[in-house]
Amino acid sequence: MEALKGATRREVFARGVAALREAGIDTPALDAAVLLGYVTSQPPEAVLMDRGASVTASEAALYSALVRKRCERTAVSRLVGVREFYSRTFRVTDDVLDPRPETEVLVEHALRCLKGLRKPPAVLDVGTGSGAIAVTVAAEIPSARVTATDISMAALAVARNNAARQGVEERIRFVQADLLEPFRFGGRFDVILSNPPYVSWAQFENLPQEVRGGDPGTALVSGPEGLEFYAPLAAASRNLLVPGGSLMVEVGDGQDAAVAAILKGAGFRDVRVVKDLAGRGRVVAGSSEDA
Ligand SMILES: C[S@@+](CC[C@H](N)C(=O)[O-])C[C@H]1O[C@@H](n2cnc3c(N)ncnc32)[C@H](O)[C@@H]1O
Repeated sequence: MEALKGATRREVFARGVAALREAGIDTPALDAAVLLGYVTSQPPEAVLMDRGASVTASEAALYSALVRKRCERTAVSRLVGVREFYSRTFRVTDDVLDPRPETEVLVEHALRCLKGLRKPPAVLDVGTGSGAIAVTVAAEIPSARVTATDISMAALAVARNNAARQGVEERIRFVQADLLEPFRFGGRFDVILSNPPYVSWAQFENLPQEVRGGDPGTALVSGPEGLEFYAPLAAASRNLLVPGGSLMVEVGDGQDAAVAAILKGAGFRDVRVVKDLAGRGRVVAGSSEDA
């Protein structure tokens, strides 16, 4: 993009949209609004409200640089360092997966179940990443005591920061763990939640550059079929749930039947698939034995 100094926000926005469209970006107007909002410290929906407002030289330079990086397929969330999840803003870095809208289906299902419990619930989020699930549950259910694990210390630092930003860090215990290994000898949970890595090796090769080059591989990939986490998670979860407690996991497209079979094979009852708005099986849930 040519020099933009002194141009109005509207002109700057239009040039960004044109550059992004030419580069084949699917959502050029949305991305340009988010980037312009970021450099001018405005919400994206407000950037064009003041028709005559101009941009400063430093805003113009930063905006041009960000649009260029976006044209090269860096994800918008990586450029601005935040991502919305369940109407809250989460900090994201190269160490964590960008929380996805699909995961809101898992959170919705968990919240429905947790709100029906009579006592303050104990919840475990396995592979917390940015903390999107754990922080949202803690924020939505003020009585909940949440444990959040991840194999990555760097991810746990991001999650802890997000918990502090949402004022729920007192109610979340962060534990570095390889799946459920540290919990072999204790701890009982009403609900165990996880959005584990579930991308197969073949799928990983075909992911868009934004995802392949942005999200950490350890957050995405899970063996030849994308299913490697579910059996160990299900097996270990059974001993950690209170009687009648629930395991709920997010699954990738077309994995719901295979994961439901894994949960049944591990001894879970009432195994069910929760669909997203597009009708795809997105969450598989099962209950431990009756109270
Ligand atoms: C798909 S990401 C989910 C992140 C976050 N819960 C979300 O929904 O946005 C999976 C997470 O699992 C973590 N992970 C990968 N292998 C793990 C393991 N063996 N034990 C615990 N966590 C693991 C990754 O570091 C990553 O943060």
